[in-house]
Order: sequence, then C-alpha cells, then structure tokens
Amino acid sequence: MRAMHIQQNYSLKALNSFGVSVSADLFTALRSSDDVDALISWRKANLSTPCLLIGGGSNMLFVHDFKGLAVVVCLKGQELIAEDDDAFYIKAAGGENWHDFVRWTIDEGYAGLENLSLIPGTVGAAPMQNIGAYGVELGDRLQSLDAIDLSTGERRTFNNEECQFAYRDSFFKRQQPDRWLIESVTFRLPKNPKWITAYAGVEAALDGQEPNARLISDAVIALRQSKLPDPKVIGNAGSFFKNPIMPIEQWKALRAKFPDLPGYPQNDNKDLIKTSAGWLIDQCAWKAFRDGDAGIYEKHALVLVNHGEASGKALWDLAERIIKSVKEKFDLTLEAEPRVID
Ligand code: EPU
Repeated sequence: MRAMHIQQNYSLKALNSFGVSVSADLFTALRSSDDVDALISWRKANLSTPCLLIGGGSNMLFVHDFKGLAVVVCLKGQELIAEDDDAFYIKAAGGENWHDFVRWTIDEGYAGLENLSLIPGTVGAAPMQNIGAYGVELGDRLQSLDAIDLSTGERRTFNNEECQFAYRDSFFKRQQPDRWLIESVTFRLPKNPKWITAYAGVEAALDGQEPNARLISDAVIALRQSKLPDPKVIGNAGSFFKNPIMPIEQWKALRAKFPDLPGYPQNDNKDLIKTSAGWLIDQCAWKAFRDGDAGIYEKHALVLVNHGEASGKALWDLAERIIKSVKEKFDLTLEAEPRVID
C-alpha cells in the first residue's frame, strides 16, 4: 500500500473560514480511496496522535495551533445511483463543495436541496451539524451515508434514523470528535417536490413568480448575501451561536419581561419553543461591535467576524463576553454552533 503523504508544520489559515493563522504539526489531504486506506493504516499505528478532520473549515474556530494530524477531505464525485416512482437517489463524495453540489442537482433537474443553497462547507461535513436554512434541514433529504470509524478502520452505512438528526446536531457530533470520516452521502430527492417558501423572506423574494428549484435557490442566495458576510471577504463561520430551545413555560416567563422576545414553535415537540440568539445578542448591543479585528457583523448579531488578523483566542474571548452578557440579561446560556478547537 502507498504510504501517506504527510507535511509538517502546515498553515491552516486558508483552510478555516475565519482565516485564523494557526498551523498543524502534521497535515495530509485525502484525494482517493488509496489515501483513505493509507490514513486508516496510519491511524492504527498512531492512535495516541490527535487527528482532526477538516471539510470546508467553515464550522470551526481554532483557538490554538493543532498538535496532531490535520486531514483535509478532498474526495470528489456525484452521480444518480437509482430512482423509483417517488424519488431520485443521488450519491456525492464527502469532499464535494456543498453549494456547488446543490447547484449541480438543480442543473440536472433534481429538486429538494434548493433551500440549502450557499451554505459554506462540504457534503461530508453537512450531516455533522445537520445543516439547515429556510425551513429545510439536511436530515429531511438524507437517505444514507457511508462512514469509516477511524478508531477501528470499520466501514459502515448509516440510514437516516441512525444519524439521529436534531437541530444542528447528529449522532456524529455527539461521538468522540474526528472518529467518523464521512466518505459519501446519498440523498433522496422527491420527484414531486413540495416547495418550501413560507420561511423568512423567501416568498417575498420570489415576487409572485411560480416557485421552482432554481428560483428558490436564487432567492435564498440573495437573502443570504444580504444578511451574511462572504467568508472570502470577512472571516466568519456563519451563525456562531445556536438558537436556544426551551420549555414553553420558561419562554412565557421571559416574554413577560421582554414582550418582543421572538418565539418559533417546534413542529416535532409542542412543549418546546426556539427563540432567536441573534435577537438576544442584538438586545445586548453587540451588533457591529469591534475590538481590534474581532467583531460582530454589522447586519447580523449572530455572526462573529474576523476583520483581518484577529487570533482565534481573541475571537473566542469575544464570544465568551457575549455569552456572559446574554446570561446576565436573560438568564439564558448561549452555546457555540461551530466546533471550538482548544
Ligand atoms: N434578529 C435580530 N437581530 C439580528 C439578527 C436576527 O433581532 O441581528 C432576529 C430577528 O427577529 C429575526 C430573527 O432573529 O427575524 C431570525 O433571524 P434570521 O432569519 O436571520 O435567522 P437566524 O435564526 O438568525 C437561522 C440559522 C441560519 C439560517 C437562517 C435562515 C441558526 C443558528 N442559524 O438564523 O443558519 O441561514 O436561520 O434559515 O439556526 C448557520 O447555521 O450558519 C446559519 C447561517
């Protein structure tokens, strides 16, 4: 078997969307199944060396250099593998860019992923935090995925239920980090799609036109571009905090004090309600705040930004100040949505 190509003291600045200057002691890129096999062998021989899996690097904040092997997943390929009366089944490799894959499905005439347009990251990283936007979550469209347990080298297929999807959460996120390498994902895309346009401005952006996958995708792209910074221009990881979900009673008590508190009932559990972390942070006057190059985006309070040379530590210190102030004002503890690598 081919030996793994490992580079030393490798800069991860271009591989994390915050653009934080950090390095990894060791680095390799997976481009083929031979590279994957080589990694499995290396892992068995080096179990005590920490291993970090990077997809698009758009959902991680590095607070320090990484003392171990950083692995960037570059596996490519996407194809129709089956169809039945109701759906097309499309398989995509873990290293495909998520948005390019979504646009490819639309170009090929498959619908169902349009609401998830322009989300940064890769296909293989998407199931980790069950990416979601504009009324659709990845878990609504995933048929199965193929993953490798890097602690044993075992290959396993997970069906949708086994992925245990929840709001920005999955089986994989709850496991020991970097244990599972997601090689490919198979999507079930309906032949008679039900357009989801009721959410947050999509309907208005369609401006009376009859919906189709491309129009919804274009509307979602325009909405995201109007609210969220482009990581190529300003370092960021999208929403930095999860929207808090709480029992209705707790939400009502809080709303008695703050009558404008947003509330979004949860379809899967009528006893729970989600509020908006963006609103809570906005109320604490953090929007557009800046301390050196670490800041909060001027158009959206949920987005932590690196205006240039902020360190991961400076960004995390600011996030912790925000968590503390929201706790003091609302007695709610915000959780970071991206992975914080300490
Ligand atoms: N709001 C404010 N001030 C702000 C921002 C938001 O008051 O600065 C309030 C407003 O009331 C607004 C509400 O928050 O109506 C919701 O804002 P928005 O529609 O922008 O959605 P979000 O809850 O902030 C979530 C996802 C986004 C996703 C959008 C659209 C999370 C953590 N974030 O944001 O996902 O694009 O909905 O579906 O669930 C991401 O995960 O990186 C991400 C961008």
